[in-house]
Amino acid sequence: MKSNQLLYLSQKDVLAVGLTMAEIIDALTVAFQEKGKGLTEMPPKPGIHPGGGDNFIHAMPAYIPALKSAGVKWVSGFPENYQRGLPYITGLLILNDPESGIPLSVMDCIWITAMRTGAATALSARYLARPESSVVGVLGCGVQGQTNVEALNVLFPLEKVMAYDVNDEAAKRYVEEISTRFDLEAVAVAKPRDAVTGCDIVVTAGPILKEPHATIQAGWLDGGAFASLVDFDSYWHADAMQETTKFCTDDTQQLLHYKDVGYFKKIPPIHADLGELATGQKPGRETPNEKTMAANLGLALDDMAVAPLIFRKAIEKDIGTWLPL
Ligand SMILES: NC(=O)c1ccc[n+]([C@@H]2O[C@H](COP(=O)([O-])OP(=O)(O)OC[C@H]3O[C@@H](n4cnc5c(N)ncnc54)[C@H](O)[C@@H]3O)[C@@H](O)[C@H]2O)c1
Repeated sequence: MKSNQLLYLSQKDVLAVGLTMAEIIDALTVAFQEKGKGLTEMPPKPGIHPGGGDNFIHAMPAYIPALKSAGVKWVSGFPENYQRGLPYITGLLILNDPESGIPLSVMDCIWITAMRTGAATALSARYLARPESSVVGVLGCGVQGQTNVEALNVLFPLEKVMAYDVNDEAAKRYVEEISTRFDLEAVAVAKPRDAVTGCDIVVTAGPILKEPHATIQAGWLDGGAFASLVDFDSYWHADAMQETTKFCTDDTQQLLHYKDVGYFKKIPPIHADLGELATGQKPGRETPNEKTMAANLGLALDDMAVAPLIFRKAIEKDIGTWLPL
């Protein structure tokens, strides 16, 4: 650390640090245990909506004393950005020194957002999926489709990925990448149902919509399966969600807030949040045959669990650019 300077970490720098998914899952485990014990601070994320529609820019602050982490992510999601050749999710994260409040680092947050969301799915799955789960269905073969499988592959004996995307080319590219990167069998399927029925874990990662397209019907998800709703309830018919015995989230208050503003209109009662699962205050899966679900919203806590690890490794490896404060 240098006095009166902060470390700027570009997208390339953050990648070069080489943090592993296993390290990220470990950090999130601690963060959610701390949340379950009430030892974290994380106000609901305020946002602005330039241009209207589904565009957003959110401020996501969190403080995790046990991880000596304090800071904020300023992240935007502009669904039409693909038409400009720009990423949907972009943004920056500021990491502060929790003792003095001084900014330590400004870093790009695209990679962190992609990785921590996959890690949150895997962490939920640790409590809610069958440990022997080996077949994953992915609907929406983009960034989240990749990182969710990467994270699940750390905790589960995965063998096969069934991949569906509205864009055939995206599904084809995805199965090539997945089978190369992770030594898994990956199959592009033509119908959404083929990425649900027969799968132990299902990840839906298409666009987030206030009015769900509700493609996945009651009876598609097998008994004993776990589903991660990365794109909220957009993919799920209300009757299909009602079949689950445990509908979970990462933060109940924030989910209720989303409900107030028009999302999650037809979800079942919330069984537990990830802090309650991580501390054992609420049970995870109790029988091999129950259907379970997690709708993780993505929390500042996830980001602030990861950011100090990146900062410390960047210093160790002499990565990044020091800028005057
Ligand atoms: N919950 C969280 O914590 C969290 C965090 C980050 C992103 N997200 C959400 O995850 C979703 C995916 O993000 P991403 O970065 O992977 O986006 P991306 O643009 O990289 O990929 C999205 C993919 O979904 C496909 N798609 C679109 N509509 C579909 C449909 N109906 N069925 C199947 N595939 C469809 C697209 O062709 C594309 O391949 C977004 O909705 C994003 O808002 C959630």
